[in-house]
Amino acid sequence: MTLGLDSTVSLVAPSISKRLLSPSQPLKLGIMASGSGSNFEAIAQAIADEQLNAQIQVLIYNNPLAKAAIRATNRGVEAVLLNHRDYGSREAFDGEIVKTLQQYDVDWVIMAGWMRLVTPVLIDAFTDKIINIHPSLLPSFKGINAVEQALASGVKITGCTVHLVCLEVDSGPILIQAAVPVLPEDTVETLHARIQIQEHIILPQAITLAAQG
Ligand code: GAR
Repeated sequence: MTLGLDSTVSLVAPSISKRLLSPSQPLKLGIMASGSGSNFEAIAQAIADEQLNAQIQVLIYNNPLAKAAIRATNRGVEAVLLNHRDYGSREAFDGEIVKTLQQYDVDWVIMAGWMRLVTPVLIDAFTDKIINIHPSLLPSFKGINAVEQALASGVKITGCTVHLVCLEVDSGPILIQAAVPVLPEDTVETLHARIQIQEHIILPQAITLAAQG
């Protein structure tokens, strides 16, 4: 398949979407976010549009300024601030996250722009039930600043990946990826904006796909 330079292309999502079956019981989601929360919003909208059979039990955010919290409140979802600066270790922080997710009876944990490394405390409490979205075609450009890394490398195609979380950062079984061409005039902002359009499509789809096992 050839990618046109003038458009954003999702290679995977349309074919996957035809095969997705909604779970019979609503999935109980706990969403974790550190930033603007546009992926939180995409999940909430997919639920409202009946594209995703789920309910958001709670939003956990770690940055007091995260706009994701405002989005949650506007959607009638409880937003719980757990500020990582208040904890002595990553393990203690993750322990509080696990406690909160369990209090809210969460089955699936969605890292929707969660910018903290996670420990076995969280991963072992929700084995194979944690989903992450990352703004690159993994395994390329792991870690922070994935969009900057892609631009600096000179690749002509990048994109986004939704995957199950394991201990190694930005690793774990891939659920869905979407490809996005890098345009000659792209800045980090313009490229990230086009990647996010794809993120908002594939993240709700990947949640359904993961729930199918
Ligand atoms: C998204 O682009 C997501 O892929 C990225 O943070 C952004 C959050 O946007 N995640 C990572 O870089 C994780 N390594 P949002 O707050 O608007 O959903």
